[in-house]
Amino acid sequence: MADKPIDGGRRIRALVSTALKPATIVDMKDNSNVATRLDPLAWLDDDLAQLDANSLRRERRVGRRVDAAHIEFDGRKYVNFASNDYLGLADHPRVVAAAEAAAREHGWGAGASPLVTGRHAAHARLEARLAEFMGTEAALVLPTGFAANLGTIAALVGRGDIVFSDALNHASLIDGCRLSRATVSVYDHNNLEELERQLAATPSSMARRRLIVTDSLFSMDGQTPRLAELCDLAERYDAMLLVDEAHALGVVGPNGRGVCEAMGVEGRISARVATLSKALGSSGGFVAGSAKLIEWLANRARSYVFSTAATPASAAAAMAALDVVIAEPQRRLQLHDNLLRLTDALSILGWRLSAVDRSRVGDLQPTLGAIVPVIVGDSRQALDLAAQLAERGLWVPAIRPPTVPVGTARLRISLSCAHTPDLLARLVTALGELAN
Ligand SMILES: Cc1ncc(COP(=O)(O)O)c(C=O)c1O
Repeated sequence: MADKPIDGGRRIRALVSTALKPATIVDMKDNSNVATRLDPLAWLDDDLAQLDANSLRRERRVGRRVDAAHIEFDGRKYVNFASNDYLGLADHPRVVAAAEAAAREHGWGAGASPLVTGRHAAHARLEARLAEFMGTEAALVLPTGFAANLGTIAALVGRGDIVFSDALNHASLIDGCRLSRATVSVYDHNNLEELERQLAATPSSMARRRLIVTDSLFSMDGQTPRLAELCDLAERYDAMLLVDEAHALGVVGPNGRGVCEAMGVEGRISARVATLSKALGSSGGFVAGSAKLIEWLANRARSYVFSTAATPASAAAAMAALDVVIAEPQRRLQLHDNLLRLTDALSILGWRLSAVDRSRVGDLQPTLGAIVPVIVGDSRQALDLAAQLAERGLWVPAIRPPTVPVGTARLRISLSCAHTPDLLARLVTALGELAN
């Protein structure tokens, strides 16, 4: 609605439609006149109230890291079951020292996008190291994992193409698909029979290029797709395959290269995306693949070309973290031990650890990573459980729609190798009490 001019600085209350409340009118002053107009953001009051009513409003707390297993909120210390710092590397002395040294060498900010002057030696070194670690010809570092997914998908497909996406893929994959302007075909979570039907129904004449995108370890479920069969389908139907290893890098696979390594399909993936912000304890994202893929992305991934490069210090920190991942495999082994210990105990207590309907998708791979969902169903109930755990000094987030499908609200437990048997036992005991 247009601004209403005010005569002589007098406040005029606009005539508003019945849908708009008086509180939606604001006064705006300039030097001589006072203009009154409707608040264009007034609808947010109603929509935020709706979030409250549905127990979906998010709180932005300020936490203080105590150590890899503990966090403090409002002066109270909790066992942290909500961090993605799976290997406890975010404050590892080598990681912190590398960041400090890089900040001194390069300054803090990268100063520009990578193709202008923002690509520093720390980025180039990390890219070479990541390619070596992942066993690919090349790698490209982007400001975040989110940016890596957005940029890669939109650079690989566009109008006239089709992208097939698992229904539970991470938001960055979903947004990358939408941004690409390719036709998006969503298949039921892990339902490769449905994916095959969709692939078969799309003759080459209808799609210039095809791309399948999937998480390798679903962030709210902790489960992995049947990757070998996905590769078979991609090859049979002449499709590219992008796999997001955000939650698996450093955690899964004999060498920590992710689910693709664990399942022996690394050489069959067109683009492997991951983040530096979880097990590597830093920030930034990357894509690993063939030299021509990386060359194309460096030219065409908009989130690479048109965004300031990651800070050189975070690149250096990630490189140091990678060295620790290689030198200290016991961190990964301890994490797996913690995973088995917890899932066994929770299964005995009768908690449901998967929201997936197995009758529709067949067998699921066992959970490999560090994420254990405890399915509750109702959002309010999930919040109540999280609050009761917090009263016991255990920080476990309640995950609600739209992050997860309606009716599958859950507690999401993130494990760390820094969780001791005592800390895990505290969680199991608390969940045992709450189960009754
Ligand atoms: C599966 C998945 N992919 C990508 C990302 C994005 O990574 P980043 O936090 O580096 O933007 C996340 C992060 O939360 C994730 O869970």
